[in-house]
Amino acid sequence: MTARRLVGFTIGLLSSLCLAGCWGTTSVFSPASPNARATVQLFNFVFAIEAVVFVIVEGALIYAVVHFSRKRGGGLPKQTEGNLTLEIIWTVIPSILLAAIFFVSLGTLSQVTSAPPQSSLTGAPLQIKVIGHQWFWEFDYPDLKIVTANELVVPVGTLVNANVQSMDVIHSYWVPDLGGKIDAIPGITNQIHFQADRTGTFTGQCAEFCGADHAQMRMTVVVKTADEYAAWVKGQQAPLPQFSGDGASGELLFMGMPCIGCHTIATTKAQGTIGPNLTHFASRGIFAGGVLVNNTDNLSLWLADPQAVKPGNLMPNFSLGPGAIKILDAFLQSLK
Ligand code: CUA
Repeated sequence: MTARRLVGFTIGLLSSLCLAGCWGTTSVFSPASPNARATVQLFNFVFAIEAVVFVIVEGALIYAVVHFSRKRGGGLPKQTEGNLTLEIIWTVIPSILLAAIFFVSLGTLSQVTSAPPQSSLTGAPLQIKVIGHQWFWEFDYPDLKIVTANELVVPVGTLVNANVQSMDVIHSYWVPDLGGKIDAIPGITNQIHFQADRTGTFTGQCAEFCGADHAQMRMTVVVKTADEYAAWVKGQQAPLPQFSGDGASGELLFMGMPCIGCHTIATTKAQGTIGPNLTHFASRGIFAGGVLVNNTDNLSLWLADPQAVKPGNLMPNFSLGPGAIKILDAFLQSLK
């Protein structure tokens, strides 16, 4: 590799790392749930041991290289073959360390998979279904009759039990700040839970290669206060508004297009299940598998050519003209 190529490669690598860092607060080091915190504590414990071992071993190595090397003009240094005491020491100490890591990991495993104590909970646990699709996440609240996509809304301090499934291939649900990672496997229901202990927006990402748009299968978890959450639930359960003007024309167009074969809008004839449920589309902060902020400009871009925005996604390009896009925008953005 020439120097110029090496510099180019390094700049490319650093800028992609920076971009990755700029996108939301996806980090296992800012835990906001007891099980996420347990994972970081285990990491810190193992890292501390590794750091001490690294310093001692590298120190001994450098000392040996400097102290025992052949001196200028000198003869062959003293040759040593085997040292029983040293060998016992460097077998016993790592064994003790590995045993400690093993038992501490077992403790963390049970902490991560068992629910937090009832005493730390506010209210009854929230049951949700998380369904992986190529390429977006669907969130179903069966008890509340709410279905949404890309953005999971939960109340703070409440235990959330998620049944994780897949509609097509294997995905992996992962919101680093809120705890572990779990595969979404077709035909199998896996379970994961979390209990957010502060409000905010946490980002997640599909963590199992699942096809062309694996990297663009993102999500956010929006943690609200109890009151904000109650208001959100009320909004999601509200009937559709009366559409007027461009919104009404957009509704007419939408219901006459193949859109209804893929998307559901509750109480209408749109009952497709391939694409995201759009019932309260305008209440969400993101769309298109979490890669676009939900606003009229981005929606226009998306409707004009979904493949240009997110190549490989399953939404066809309907070659819509500006007029059609304008009224569809008005319709979708009124689905509050
Ligand atoms: Cu879904 Cu990767």
